[in-house]
Amino acid sequence: SKNRYKSVDPQLVDGHLSYFLGAVGMTGLTALLGMREKGHVTKGANQTMVVSGAAGACGSIAGQIGRLDGCVRVVGICGSEEKCRALVEDLGFSAAINYRRDDVPAKLRECCPDGVDVYFDNVGGAVSDTVIAQMNNSSHVILCGQISQYNKDVPYPPPLSEETQEALRSKNITRERFMVLNYMDKMEAALLQLSQWVKSGQIKVLETVVNGIENMGVAFCSMMNGGNVGKQIIKLSE
Ligand SMILES: NC(=O)c1ccc[n+]([C@@H]2O[C@H](COP(=O)([O-])OP(=O)(O)OC[C@H]3O[C@@H](n4cnc5c(N)ncnc54)[C@H](OP(=O)(O)O)[C@@H]3O)[C@@H](O)[C@H]2O)c1
Ligand SMILES: *[C@@H]1O[C@H](CO)[C@@H](O)[C@H](O)[C@H]1NC(C)=O
Ligand SMILES: *[C@@H]1O[C@H](CO)[C@@H](O)[C@H](O)[C@H]1NC(C)=O
Ligand SMILES: *[C@@H]1O[C@H](CO)[C@@H](O)[C@H](O)[C@H]1NC(C)=O
Ligand SMILES: *[C@@H]1O[C@H](CO)[C@@H](O)[C@H](O)[C@H]1NC(C)=O
Repeated sequence: SKNRYKSVDPQLVDGHLSYFLGAVGMTGLTALLGMREKGHVTKGANQTMVVSGAAGACGSIAGQIGRLDGCVRVVGICGSEEKCRALVEDLGFSAAINYRRDDVPAKLRECCPDGVDVYFDNVGGAVSDTVIAQMNNSSHVILCGQISQYNKDVPYPPPLSEETQEALRSKNITRERFMVLNYMDKMEAALLQLSQWVKSGQIKVLETVVNGIENMGVAFCSMMNGGNVGKQIIKLSE
């Protein structure tokens, strides 16, 4: 159909065309619409936000939106020291936790003395069990993805432990499935917002670029293993 191909306006990204694949594309939309539809972030409410998969494509944008939307504290959880540094020094996160090295429950308690009000979850599994255990009453999980569980032969969303289910129930935490493609009618306005933030420098964009389509498989596996900081991009030509 004539809608199969969508043309893009290079002005939206100041000519940086790869941003259409990330921050000013489906990735940024996932972060922004996830936050707006499921996050319940309110300016002036002094909320603490935690993001898992925080140095990835979606997570790195979601955390910055949390700051722009008025969370007083945004804490990222990711898989390396290099990523932790990028979150705090380049992207303005309040703190970062390396789930491969740090004592996550202890460091999370230290970074979030007022508990967790909004959790943008990209990973699921043990990291998310830990975050949910420190969430406040009537707080909100944005169920974006569960990448730590994708190699398991289970339906999506993957089942939670009894303990975590009980924590959600007893603390009245919302955790609704989120699918960016269910919000087509909101995408145009959201893309404009993302474009403005990126152009003004309020949102910084991180990319990991690999050259050549012959390296696509390697780059994909690297991304699934945490080799990327920000959006994994395959560059085909100038
Ligand atoms: N709901 C939607 O509509 C929607 C749309 C797009 C994407 N998503 C979801 O959003 C999430 C992020 O996707 P993305 O495209 O932005 O990818 P990404 O975050 O750029 O890359 C994936 C990252 O996941 C982390 N990871 C891999 N295995 C992990 C594990 N076992 N435990 C914890 N972290 C692990 C790695 O970072 P570390 O170094 O930190 O481990 C890796 O860099 C995915 O779950 C994806 O399915 C959802
Ligand atoms: C948020 O924190 C500020 C500064 O500490 C305080 O004045 C305000 O009352 C707090 N707001 C809420 C809703 O707790
Ligand atoms: C969230 O829980 C912490 C304790 O974990 C508490 O200090 C804080 O006041 C709670 N916040 C709200 C909004 O209930
Ligand atoms: C949630 O509310 C219950 C009872 O209303 C209270 O006992 C508990 O301490 C609260 N938990 C948090 C994390 O604020
Ligand atoms: C439970 O959470 C919902 C959604 O955030 C909220 O509207 C409701 O007031 C909460 N109920 C209680 C008993 O706190």
